[in-house]
Amino acid sequence: MKRTKIIDALKCTSYGENILVKGWVRSKRGSKGIFFVALNDGSTINNIQIVGDEAKIPEETVKRITTGACISVEGRLVESPAAGQASEIQADSIEILGDCDNTYPLQKKGASWEYLRTVAHLRPRTNTFGAILRIRHNMAMAIHTYFHEHGYFYFHTPLITASDCEGAGNMFQVTTKNLYDLKKDEQGKIIYSDDFFGEQTSLTVSGQLEGELGATALGAIYTFGPTFRAENSNTPRHLAEFWMIEPEVAFLDQEELMDLEEDFIKYCVRWALEHCQDDLAFLNKMIDKGLIERLEGVLKEDFVRLPYTEGIRILQEAKKNGKKFEFPCEWGDDLASEHERYLVEEHFKKPVIMTDYPRAFKSFYMKQNEETADGGSVGYKGAVAPGPTMQGTDVLFPSIGEIIGGSVREESYGKLLGEVERRQMDLTHLTWYLDTRKYGSCPHAGFGLGFERLILFVTGMQNIRDVIPFPRTPGNAQF
Ligand code: 4AD
Ligand code: MG
Repeated sequence: MKRTKIIDALKCTSYGENILVKGWVRSKRGSKGIFFVALNDGSTINNIQIVGDEAKIPEETVKRITTGACISVEGRLVESPAAGQASEIQADSIEILGDCDNTYPLQKKGASWEYLRTVAHLRPRTNTFGAILRIRHNMAMAIHTYFHEHGYFYFHTPLITASDCEGAGNMFQVTTKNLYDLKKDEQGKIIYSDDFFGEQTSLTVSGQLEGELGATALGAIYTFGPTFRAENSNTPRHLAEFWMIEPEVAFLDQEELMDLEEDFIKYCVRWALEHCQDDLAFLNKMIDKGLIERLEGVLKEDFVRLPYTEGIRILQEAKKNGKKFEFPCEWGDDLASEHERYLVEEHFKKPVIMTDYPRAFKSFYMKQNEETADGGSVGYKGAVAPGPTMQGTDVLFPSIGEIIGGSVREESYGKLLGEVERRQMDLTHLTWYLDTRKYGSCPHAGFGLGFERLILFVTGMQNIRDVIPFPRTPGNAQF
């Protein structure tokens, strides 16, 4: 007989027919010769109830139906008398596919997140991680569908690279050299010419630079792949290996870029509400009572579009009115997450797209705003800033902080080269990138969405380590 997935069995109304299901035992209880098994096969958060008669199922088998065991059940689908479930199965025969003894680490309910991280190889079998991982899959489908339907091409950028897109130097090196016996030149610099690629290479921090090559040829592309950052950030929002979605579009201006950011996130959230109802209902009940309301709330709101300079003014005013911040927020300071959260959660109470950041802490490739005679600059909708600014457009989200980092790109060869030189960046690894501005340059823009930060928002989870199957963080590469 062909196996029926539990998600389908629960929907099936052909009562009286024979059915075969397989899965892992969530629990077993029983009395007076009848036992009840809650069986789950990962296809849905919901378990199907198996009703067994000890007169029919051998005692030896019944004993081996323990929490975590894998079993195969043949029986009759019947309408369930129990509330909250449509159908159940009256077992004719049960086969044990995999025993599970009492050393199974997930026997007890209510284990802490920290504990579950130590058994990350098994935690997908818990209800919560099952829900998170199904939502994660659905979000990936939403992303591909959104871009495909909007005429973007999925563009594959390399994971191994010789350039540092963000210029922050947080890169993991890739080498086949014997690290304990590195040859150095007279100045003490490591010689890479005999290394695998003939030069120093690393794991990419972003596919953007190559993505720009795609956009300036195909018009609109997106990437969706792993990125790596060797920043020693032990926070609930940072991973050393995370997945990033990076659309890049020719002929897009600052306003259109913000439209895209907002439309895209809303599409993903709407997709979750439409495609992940059971899992969201479970998380809403068990993890975060405000989850579904918050997701629906985001769809209703127009995101605030806020120049950085105006954001600083609001923060300064809050300070004057007694708000305490740990970190400074003068014009020119990079905002800390407490500042972002104040703006999003307390001041506006909705997502904020922040624009026109000071040049000092943004990346070299961003479009430079027009400078004024007194050293200031003019940005979004004519807003004036006291110093040089760039057309960065980051999306800040409630409880997450920065979920998207994006910008219009500097399309002028002269200005971009000037910025590369001003920052004393190594030109040898950027000549190919500068060629985009040399040959048929065009205005273009794009952004990067941290996939796990989106999953955090959509699931209501608090720690980024719990929304990726196998997290990579400082000091941890287990599993
Ligand atoms: O703001 P970031 O650094 O921007 C870029 O890398 C651009 N090149 C993207 C682009 O314009 N194509 O990173 C983009 C997003 C952040 O907003 C955040 O959501 C996520 O990536 N992110 C991380 N997520 C998890 N762990 C980390 N260590 C992250 N660093 C960034
Ligand atoms: Mg950023």
